[in-house]
Amino acid sequence: MCGICGYIGKNNGIDEVVQGLNILEYRGYDSCGIAYLENKKLKTIKTVGGVNNLSNLSKSMSANIVIGHTRWATHGGVNERNAHPHISSSKKLAMVHNGIIENYKELKEQLDVNFCSETDSEVFLNLIDSEEGSLVEKVIKASKKVQGTFAVIVLAENGEVVLGKRESPLYLSNMNGEIFIASDVLALKGEYFYSLNDDEFVSIKDFKILFYNKNGEIIYKKQEKIEKNEVLPEIFYKTHMESEIYETKNVLLKTLKEYKCEDIFSNIKLPKNFRSISLIACGTAYHASLMGAEYFKEIGYDARAYLASEFRYGRELLNKNTLYIFVSQSGETADTIASAKMVKSHKLYTLALTNTPNSLLNRICKNVLPTFAGREIAVASTKAYTCQIWSLYLFSLYLAGKKLPSEKKFANFPFTTFDETYIKEIASYKKVFFIGRDLDYITAMEASLKLKEISYINCFAIASGELKHGTLALIDEDAVVIAICTQEKIKTKLISNLEEIKARGGKVIVVSQFDDFKDFSCVKLSKFDELFMPIVSVIPMQFLALRICEFFGYNPDKPRNLAKSVTVE
Ligand code: AGP
Repeated sequence: MCGICGYIGKNNGIDEVVQGLNILEYRGYDSCGIAYLENKKLKTIKTVGGVNNLSNLSKSMSANIVIGHTRWATHGGVNERNAHPHISSSKKLAMVHNGIIENYKELKEQLDVNFCSETDSEVFLNLIDSEEGSLVEKVIKASKKVQGTFAVIVLAENGEVVLGKRESPLYLSNMNGEIFIASDVLALKGEYFYSLNDDEFVSIKDFKILFYNKNGEIIYKKQEKIEKNEVLPEIFYKTHMESEIYETKNVLLKTLKEYKCEDIFSNIKLPKNFRSISLIACGTAYHASLMGAEYFKEIGYDARAYLASEFRYGRELLNKNTLYIFVSQSGETADTIASAKMVKSHKLYTLALTNTPNSLLNRICKNVLPTFAGREIAVASTKAYTCQIWSLYLFSLYLAGKKLPSEKKFANFPFTTFDETYIKEIASYKKVFFIGRDLDYITAMEASLKLKEISYINCFAIASGELKHGTLALIDEDAVVIAICTQEKIKTKLISNLEEIKARGGKVIVVSQFDDFKDFSCVKLSKFDELFMPIVSVIPMQFLALRICEFFGYNPDKPRNLAKSVTVE
């Protein structure tokens, strides 16, 4: 969940690394820092807060070999001591680290070192420093003793740089003698890049790059092309989140076009005569999976969505007649990756539905179904969610042998924002509930996650039918209930629920395309196919979260305590 960056070349590496960290900042923004060589001594600049602070502190400084890090705190509080890069106690090595060293406490006890920070990373660094041999040998030896995940760049005072990784991504590119290293391809320069596999290592000395396997043997690695869409997207509105919501129509259309012109679906290897589909994901991608499961049930499959963080420990009977779909915007979410690896180890059919080409999940799974939402930078997932639902819907049409819809349909894509007059009012409530039935219950869950994620309001989603089984006890004049109704068959039942809420003093706001809710405050949706309404109805809910967040004066792109990619478990 942190970002790491490195530069070796003839230009000012401090500028290059700060630029790279700026791009990676969406992955972690508690604190950041750089390490560089000055007169053969390792120096660091660290700061709490964003890369802007680092940029100010490092202005007019210059170095040719630089490593940097933007942190999302796991071990130890947010302060300069815990910020990376760390320097080893001998002062000979500096290191940046993504991931978690699970056995750091045992290792710490074995090392005779005065630690400066509370981090697991500093323990790993000193373990490396305590090993014998060349720098790459030291890193390989230490990596065998650590349990957990890592992507590291180690810089030695003689200018040698060593990289290594396990589970956490790490890439490098070599552009005319300038070497760029980053934990995300987005922050690399050049046309081609190398992607490290687990337990692979790299040594860079005098611009010579050598790759090693875990036995310390030199290996050959092929370069891959950097995809055109691997650039930081422009923003046309105040924030990435707002720009990304407004991109919805275009990315749905792009996904449809790509699915039509390429043989994406027919290239997917499916189990013979399979009738069962399991979808595995976290957070918003889990909500998209719940929706996808409904689409697959609609065409006669036995489908179910699982939270990856539970599935990996669960007792689900894995079987060869099931298609396992792993849904992830980033393709690097730790629990989703662990679940995919677990299913793959049983040699079963896996499909990655991701928005990130070259992601770890794509490499693990047998098949890949890309979503074409383009880079999503805001921590709160919006266009990627609608695109995931859309892709799963289109895939269900393919499985059912039906034609994909015409692009013309999108000319009238209904786009509703949340009525601004309600924003201030909703923000004043102590309790916020989202309710719905059937597909709308899934939208309620997503709406609630979005609101709590960026506005920090304590809210939750309930299936309307469950209200009377407990939650109704919380309804009074301090509660606002936002009810979603896009499915004809549940209208009447929902109205009864709303009357019960009103009778207990709760405020009701209905989000619906139907005219049956005249007695309540309403956000009116345009009519579209029912199965497609989860996309239409979630957009105002995304706006609701965004506007309340802005009303409170928070930054929706960087909510507190969160980061875009959850690469730790
Ligand atoms: C969404 O708004 C969240 N930031 C989060 O729930 C996210 O969807 C989840 O972490 C899964 O991420 P992924 O799609 O990259 O796997």
